[in-house]
Amino acid sequence: MSERELLLVPGPTMVEAEVLEALAQEPLSHVDPRFVAIYVEALSQTRRLFQLTGGAVFLLAGSGTMAMEMALVNTVAPEERLLVVSHGYFGDRFARIAAAFGIQADLLSATWGQRVPAEEVAAALQSQHYRAVAVTHVDTSTGVEADLSSLVPLVKAHGALFLLDGVCATGAIEEEMGKTYGDLSYTIDLVFSGSQKALGLPPGLFLLAMGERALAARRAMPSIPAYYADALNWLPVMEDPSRYFATPPVNMVTAYRVAMRRLFAEGLEVRYLRHRVQGQAVRAALRSIGFTPLAEEDVAAPTVSCLRYPAGLDDAAFRGGLARRGVIVAGGLAETKGLAFRLGHLGNVTAVELRRALAHISATMVELGAHLDLPVAMEIFDEVMTGGLEVGR
Ligand SMILES: Cc1ncc(COP(=O)(O)O)c(C=O)c1O
Repeated sequence: MSERELLLVPGPTMVEAEVLEALAQEPLSHVDPRFVAIYVEALSQTRRLFQLTGGAVFLLAGSGTMAMEMALVNTVAPEERLLVVSHGYFGDRFARIAAAFGIQADLLSATWGQRVPAEEVAAALQSQHYRAVAVTHVDTSTGVEADLSSLVPLVKAHGALFLLDGVCATGAIEEEMGKTYGDLSYTIDLVFSGSQKALGLPPGLFLLAMGERALAARRAMPSIPAYYADALNWLPVMEDPSRYFATPPVNMVTAYRVAMRRLFAEGLEVRYLRHRVQGQAVRAALRSIGFTPLAEEDVAAPTVSCLRYPAGLDDAAFRGGLARRGVIVAGGLAETKGLAFRLGHLGNVTAVELRRALAHISATMVELGAHLDLPVAMEIFDEVMTGGLEVGR
């Protein structure tokens, strides 16, 4: 039997057979009671994932960018101010979306591979009032994970809404809206994500959770510059999915329910630990054969790594050679283009599959002229995996 192709870009990720089967069903009517029951369960799974009571959850057709728009237009009015804490390409995107809607955005950008220092965020928050602060949990361009434990209290003490982009984190890193960060009222106000990353579905569905304060912000605006993305248009459907506003993607919602059942069967805590250890193990292994992670280990994400090439390794030759061996990875974005590749280690990918990818990476490098001890990366991977999982137990 030929080996399964390893799709190791930071989304879309590999999709399990039972999720694919749900996608391949004849569609049900969106108001069929059988589908309504599926939608109800899918929405309650979303609440469970984010530990949200009160507020509202939305599960809709659209990619992560649609969710970014929905998050901004429902919480910040045109002319109001937004602060963006950016750790790369996707953080910067918040500022572009804000500009498209006439929202006044100030962008705090980190040096690629680093975090925006908390003092800079604090200073910006002191300089004027912001309605909301947008943070990307993991920026997929740099592999940097934002530090929620320092950012949430800063933002909440300022009185702004905390908006979190979980596209490259949800289901792999804790994002609990019920969790308090210091003060009882210091919680995440809104989080959204896409289907195609750590949740293990194809692209096309987004989830968005609004806490009470985020919902109140929408209600305080008489109208917003959106129709499809207006939370108030969807709210009646999310409360009672037998109602209609626009046709939901029935097969994706059905497949989402299957993927989420799998996720809860694994267990959130186990899943979070698995991702953290996988990330550490993969980076340690790749470091041992000459790659340099763009993000230092203390800020590096459990879901994706951006890895600078060792001298002499050509981007196109490396990724092309790897693809011929059935391992698909992504190129660097913007300032890392041609200089680094990005490896997704999120979703349903197993340690066995990551190990296989490391073997192919080593072999491709040797093919391209590198002198390597072939098993070294796999040995280091095994060591860090075993150690990390034991510590976590
Ligand atoms: C962190 C993050 N935010 C937002 C997006 C945009 O999502 P989409 O490409 O699904 O529109 C991406 C896409 O990769 C992402 O990684």
